[in-house]
Amino acid sequence: MILLTGGLGYIGSHTAVELLNAGEDVVCLDNLSNSDISVKDKIKQIVCKTRELTDDNFKVYIGDARDYKLVDKIFCENKISSVIHFAGLKAVGESVKLPLEYYDNNLISTINLLEVMKKHGVKNFVFSSSATVYGAAKSMPIYENFETGAVTNPYGRTKYFIEEILKDVYASDKSFNIIILRYFNPIGAHDSGLIGENPNGIPNNLMPYISRVATGKLEYLSVFGDDYNTHDGTGVRDYIHVVDLALGHVKAVKKLKSKCGLKIYNLGTGVGYSVLDIVNAYNKVCGGKVKYKIVGRRPGDIDICYANADKAKKELGWVAERNLENMCKTSYNFEKKNK
Ligand code: NAD
Ligand code: UD1
Repeated sequence: MILLTGGLGYIGSHTAVELLNAGEDVVCLDNLSNSDISVKDKIKQIVCKTRELTDDNFKVYIGDARDYKLVDKIFCENKISSVIHFAGLKAVGESVKLPLEYYDNNLISTINLLEVMKKHGVKNFVFSSSATVYGAAKSMPIYENFETGAVTNPYGRTKYFIEEILKDVYASDKSFNIIILRYFNPIGAHDSGLIGENPNGIPNNLMPYISRVATGKLEYLSVFGDDYNTHDGTGVRDYIHVVDLALGHVKAVKKLKSKCGLKIYNLGTGVGYSVLDIVNAYNKVCGGKVKYKIVGRRPGDIDICYANADKAKKELGWVAERNLENMCKTSYNFEKKNK
């Protein structure tokens, strides 16, 4: 069985679906700090079309990844072969206000998991890292061997520190297989419209904000700056469909089984789109409902960020296949269903 911490969250739930569809058995551990228990049934509803789910192949534990006793109990009760560690706090602005909560949640959960894994002799680990570890890269596209660490906020630093911890753990025990996945900007939702990104309160990230404007929940999008050094002046990012990202984890788990040692992969499309590219693509899908205003830059934003994802293609046999239209369509569909 594969343990997914944060398995009821946005990326975790899509990954649970794709792992189950691929025939893997899944245990999720989630403290529901940024998700809802109803996601469990939604995962079941999606997967039951391809496979019958029982307590033997899909389980959910509600609790905290920092709780040693609970994690130990999960390892005692289930035959865990690999862990994918999604659980964590992820809001950049909030991390500036609550740095201790971010360091506590993100670092302690990782250390706790690794300790329990060692105790049970389980040495396969996938970690959800972020393109944020590259800071403002000197050139584009970004390769995995670019320098990391020039991060500008506590959230990003937790990702950087955890990567360093994982390198130290591997250096001390080469029987570990550790894959660090650096996600670029995940957007979109499952085709069913049952699972997707549903942030509490007013969204900080672009796509959920646009979706709420398109469905009338918010009035207009503020475009943060039109004076960047990009084709239309607005910020450029590498947006990747969450289902493609989930499929990247299925490939990573396969790679772990080949005793891969420590590996780092960018998961992105290699293509950069600007804020206005996204607005225009979304407007084609929703009939022009996304109104926007240009406002000043958001502090800390960089002008451009996109991946070179050739290493994941070569070594994992993974490429992102879903296009921008599909990312917008599925986001809109999810938002309408969750109105
Ligand atoms: P999410 O908030 O939707 O999912 C995280 C899940 O973890 C939530 O269900 C939450 O309830 C749970 N959780 C948090 N702390 C926990 C703890 N201590 N114990 C148990 N459960 C806990 O976020 P997501 O977008 O699915 O992100 C998953 C991972 O990917 C995170 O580590 C995030 O930092 C990383 N990441 C996300 C993005 C993105 O844009 N979404 C980009 C790069 C990296
Ligand atoms: C942000 C985080 C990053 C994290 C990533 C995925 C910051 C500085 N960085 O990246 O650490 O890994 O989310 O969760 O927050 N935009 C607008 N209006 C909006 C929202 C966004 O114009 O209301 C623009 C931004 O200026 C940026 C682009 O849209 O150019 C994407 O923004 P966002 O979705 O927040 O992602 P990032 O800033 O790339």
